[in-house]
Amino acid sequence: MTDTLIASALAGFEGKFGYAATGVWSAPGRVNLIGEHTDYNEGFVFPFAINRHTFAAISLREDDLIRVASSFSTQTHEARVGSITKDDGHDWAAYPFGVAWAIQEMANSLLKDFAATGFDCYIESDVPVGAGLSSSAAIECSVALALNDIWGASLDRLQLARVGQLGENVIVGAPTGIMDQSASLLGETDHAVFLDCRSLESQSIELGFAREGLELLIIDTRVAHRLVDGGYASRRAACESGAASLGVDSLRDLSLADLGRAQETLDDVTFRRVRHVITENQRVLDTVAILQRSGPRAIGKLMHDSHESMRDDFEISVDELDTAVETAIRHGAIGARMTGGGFGGAAIALTPVEKIGEVSLSVIAEFEALGYAKPNIFAVSAAQGAKREI
Ligand code: GLA
Repeated sequence: MTDTLIASALAGFEGKFGYAATGVWSAPGRVNLIGEHTDYNEGFVFPFAINRHTFAAISLREDDLIRVASSFSTQTHEARVGSITKDDGHDWAAYPFGVAWAIQEMANSLLKDFAATGFDCYIESDVPVGAGLSSSAAIECSVALALNDIWGASLDRLQLARVGQLGENVIVGAPTGIMDQSASLLGETDHAVFLDCRSLESQSIELGFAREGLELLIIDTRVAHRLVDGGYASRRAACESGAASLGVDSLRDLSLADLGRAQETLDDVTFRRVRHVITENQRVLDTVAILQRSGPRAIGKLMHDSHESMRDDFEISVDELDTAVETAIRHGAIGARMTGGGFGGAAIALTPVEKIGEVSLSVIAEFEALGYAKPNIFAVSAAQGAKREI
């Protein structure tokens, strides 16, 4: 599959721009095993890079023009390297443009004689779009790694994760955290990334799913989720106002012991938003500890608790996600939860290999009975992070 997509990125580049690309860089999508809406609260997350990738075929130009094209749209988008701004007309190209802008911001502040020129870029991908699997971070990280190499920006992977986030915040206009880019850049085969979003210290933790006879199923509900819509930003705002009312810089500074005080101080909605973040941080720490001590079959309850917290306290689930989670568990999944920003997208179900058929068929049947669109169900495994392919 990878070879086919690399060949198609190279052929797409040549077809669009009339000459051969210098190289192809890839970056994976991600699933988050647990730790949702904790990243921008300086908390803990535990995602992993998946075996679905974006491939960016790129060549430098001698002028300052940037042209980006892709297999999923007929349009070629253009910008000038020194004057990239937020513009709704950029559409998906805002992701590579955002990265090109953010690398320059960072490299200019770190390097004495950094100079960027234009480039041509063609994107090919098998990360499903709108499923909460970070197709956008996969674009950002493949382009970030490529530009870092060909512009000689000398940024490390943590800085490149920040580049992706900064571009997304400023040029795309989505107030997202740093989890997705970190997973896409730091992922390792069969390991998840345990990241402290305050210190940015990370640790690779072995998952051992295959050894324990488990697969992680993605149940893409096909309810498209978009992070630029208001729901994500309003959750973030509620967390910030909750932290301010409780006199802390971020919700990371609170623990389970603060819940009583939070309930007395805050209105009901803000309290429940805050409670989700506080309890979710604890669930990430517990998941990592239990995984290491007792293996992946022991983390199912924490996954389900996380889902309930997102459904009832953070209120970012939808009926299709709740149905996917409950049906998967009823038919043999060890644990299940929605993953990613919410308001649609995918659920994950940690499932014994012998139960995959039953879980998949039952979810499809339940969706049909309820009149929902047919879900797209597939297994993913933990893969290596972004790299140069050729
Ligand atoms: C999206 C954002 C991440 C994170 C998750 C929720 O994926 O891009 O930064 O906030 O939602 O955990």
